[in-house]
Amino acid sequence: MKEKVVLAYSGGLDTSVCIKWLIEEKALDVIALVGDVGQKRQSLDFIRQKALDTGAVESIVIDMREEYAAEYLSKALVANAMYEGKYPLLSALSRPILVKHLVRVAEARGAQYIAHGCTGKGNDQVRFEVGVRALNPDILQIAPVREWDLTTRDSEIEWAEAHNIPVPVSKESPYSIDDNCWGRAIECGILEDPWVEPPSDVYELTVNPEDAPDAPTYLTVGFEAGQPVSIDGAHMSFLEVLATLNTVAGANGCGRIDMVENRLVGVKSREIYECPGSLSLIKAHRDLEELVLERDLLRYKAKIEQDWAIYVYEGKWFSPLKEALDAFMAGTQAVVTGEVRLKFYKGSITVAGRRSPFSLYDFELATYGEEDRFDRNSAKGFIDIYGLYLESWARQQRKL
Ligand code: ARG
Repeated sequence: MKEKVVLAYSGGLDTSVCIKWLIEEKALDVIALVGDVGQKRQSLDFIRQKALDTGAVESIVIDMREEYAAEYLSKALVANAMYEGKYPLLSALSRPILVKHLVRVAEARGAQYIAHGCTGKGNDQVRFEVGVRALNPDILQIAPVREWDLTTRDSEIEWAEAHNIPVPVSKESPYSIDDNCWGRAIECGILEDPWVEPPSDVYELTVNPEDAPDAPTYLTVGFEAGQPVSIDGAHMSFLEVLATLNTVAGANGCGRIDMVENRLVGVKSREIYECPGSLSLIKAHRDLEELVLERDLLRYKAKIEQDWAIYVYEGKWFSPLKEALDAFMAGTQAVVTGEVRLKFYKGSITVAGRRSPFSLYDFELATYGEEDRFDRNSAKGFIDIYGLYLESWARQQRKL
């Protein structure tokens, strides 16, 4: 009997070639696994059948969207996760959920191997392989794209045709794209020159800000314990809120990101992202936290948020520190309940207002008007003691 491999399959050319390659070069039975995390794609039935037609012994499609929102996106939101202050981690978040299901299926089917179609230069290979090892160190891994010598697109297409793998007839996109409901990542082609402004054809989820409506759009996002639960008062699931924000923010030209980021493998790469929904949600969530979280907690959390984003970017989703940070983050969210009014206008997302039953904003303390009940007489003594040590230091300096 042949040994088995579970392959992370997308339906695209690379992973289709992977199926045949694993059969021919490694003499394995291939189980193809497709995860739906809200990516734009051909029909799942079509993809399932394509894997079988290409030679897979079994083809499994799993709708992971609810789990993705509940276990992955919700944690990223609570952590206001933005790698290097700009990138909401859409690819880095979708890999661990795939890893979890790959391992589960491999264990259930008694497969010795897991394979993925990542290149040898990116972050995703690390996320897959480190993730699998953290969940089941006994599973062996294969990265065909890193091993085979089909280095150019043309040689890959030639190999595919020679092996009767259907090659898409439609014009190939000049870009490399990864997407799911948290956003869309675009790289390669002309974008590899960081001086070149991205041409309009890289974008799919957002209109050009210049072409966006001349009047702003307002939406109110409701949160309960850190999670989005409504838009304009209408109750919605996390995924529904996200979908609405993707549409509305995208239609107003909001959510585009152009960055040169530091890959884990030591390379700087130029990336374009479209994240209308996730950027809107993170912006609203963070703003609500400013209203309800005590000052020291808010500042401390902001530092830990950066660490969280780095660990997740670097493939450490399944790790003790990352899990401990999740527990810390979760412990801060009980009061993150309330509403944030977002304004979308020609490419910008701004917070127009926020309110919460747990607000720490005290009008009578803040106001300069008549209702003021801040005790300014206490300020004098407070400042005397607060600045005392600097006064001592200044007197010492004078002696130098
Ligand atoms: N640089 C991002 C990351 O590592 C996105 C990579 C997505 N891949 C792509 N084909 N654009 O998380």
